[in-house]
Amino acid sequence: MADLTRVSISLEENLLEAFDKLITAKGYATRSEAIRDLIRDLLIRQEARSKHGEQVAVVTMVYDHHARELAAKLIDKQHHHHDLVVSSLHVHLGERHCLEVSVLRGPGHKVIHLGEELLATKGVLHGDITFTSGEGALNKFK
Ligand code: NI
Repeated sequence: MADLTRVSISLEENLLEAFDKLITAKGYATRSEAIRDLIRDLLIRQEARSKHGEQVAVVTMVYDHHARELAAKLIDKQHHHHDLVVSSLHVHLGERHCLEVSVLRGPGHKVIHLGEELLATKGVLHGDITFTSGEGALNKFK
């Protein structure tokens, strides 16, 4: 860990109580550790939005594999951007539904574009993109 600086912040009592309850339930040993994680999360999310530099995104999609040509379309899109798709995981949720998790890595604007394109594919029932970061930002914010 880098050199530590001590800061003091002012909070409404009820806000602090709710925060303490939440971080205890989540298993944080100290407020400092919880606040560090919050700040890091905010910085990494902001970095993802800045679209500069390398980004890493996890895209989750749930779809019905009976939907006409949908599975083939999702595969085609990922092959077309094979330089951005690091890995994919496919889980057969039941008779009809599939969960696919793809890890994308590359220039921010391309990663965001592909992730949004996958989620917008007609027939994708549910999904989300979570951004994390490449080595650069993680080293910067540790
Ligand atoms: Ni499946």
